[in-house]
Amino acid sequence: MPHPETASLLAYCRPGFEGECAQELAARDAGVGGSGFARATRGSGFVEFVTDHTEALAGAWQDLVFARQLLRVLGSARDLPARDRLGVLLPIIEAEHANGMPQRWCDAWVESPDSDATRELAPLCRGLNAALIAALKKKQLIDRGSRWRLHLCLTATDAAFAAAANIDETAPWPGGIPRLKFPRAAPSRSTLKLEEALLVLLDDDERERWLKSGMRAVDLGASPGGWTWQLVARSLHVIAVDNGPMDATLLASGLVDHLRADGFRYRPQKPVDWLVCDMVEQPRRVAELIAQWLAQGWCRYAIFNLKLPMKKRHDEVQLCLTILRDALADAGRRVELRAKQLYHDREEITVFARVA
Ligand SMILES: C[S@@+](CC[C@H](N)C(=O)[O-])C[C@H]1O[C@@H](n2cnc3c(N)ncnc32)[C@H](O)[C@@H]1O
Repeated sequence: MPHPETASLLAYCRPGFEGECAQELAARDAGVGGSGFARATRGSGFVEFVTDHTEALAGAWQDLVFARQLLRVLGSARDLPARDRLGVLLPIIEAEHANGMPQRWCDAWVESPDSDATRELAPLCRGLNAALIAALKKKQLIDRGSRWRLHLCLTATDAAFAAAANIDETAPWPGGIPRLKFPRAAPSRSTLKLEEALLVLLDDDERERWLKSGMRAVDLGASPGGWTWQLVARSLHVIAVDNGPMDATLLASGLVDHLRADGFRYRPQKPVDWLVCDMVEQPRRVAELIAQWLAQGWCRYAIFNLKLPMKKRHDEVQLCLTILRDALADAGRRVELRAKQLYHDREEITVFARVA
């Protein structure tokens, strides 16, 4: 039956990172004078954050590291009858229309968090999605010009959140996960990490302006070449630094110079456009290295992975971002940072940095 709620937000995250996601939301909330709290279960892939400041926080998806999506909760229900889940959920949505929430929706997605327990809900989500769209159309609640998308998040066969997303400030992929196809010619699956990073951390216009054919890049920890492959696919010249071997086809492209060297000691002979780095190393060491490259002007843009320790992962991320900001401030520069735990990231996050 419907559960009346105080206002809350619903964030999706990588299962196992609910604590970090909740910490981040609490820090943001405290920053606007709130004292909200999270309802989270480890491994569930989502966090509900109850706060009086939903309006101030709802647009924060881009700035949150551990949240794949951030939605405004309209209501939630448990003990949903298997034969008529929408019969319970639609009145919750319609009641919210009266409370100032959108009158019409550009689209409606039925999804479930990314967790072992909810994976089997995918067929149910698909069936319910078709029924939901049909019901909304019948009630004339679909308007393709609306800035609002309706989300139903099934957390079990008989439990769901109804939530709203402003399409200008939320992730444009169901579940907050861009579905990427592994390019068969790429030498490693980690190619998807860089592809996703370019998609999530840059917008269309930035990708076009900042990633141009003929630009020069350095890839630290490049072997066997998945990240280099993404850059070569965009016609960049790459210096691939790694003691390990590089994929032979990639080397034959003529766009790659392979240097068997230590990524921490290597220095470019002249500045390059891009630095990418996927070395498995202590995150602080990587943050210091990238800060040095940016402060010295050895690169303009950087994308790098920070492999997270098992404990205090939120604190470690904040510390690494502070290392970068402080180092650039000492050099009289300001760094722009965008950090996310991507779908293809495991115990790690990916960061984009540039001198602003
Ligand atoms: C996760 S793999 C990189 C995979 C690569 N990004 C790809 O897409 O195929 C990490 C690489 O970092 C390299 N590595 C670790 N420490 C390094 C260092 N100090 N200098 C250069 N490479 C290093 C390892 O040899 C390994 O090949």
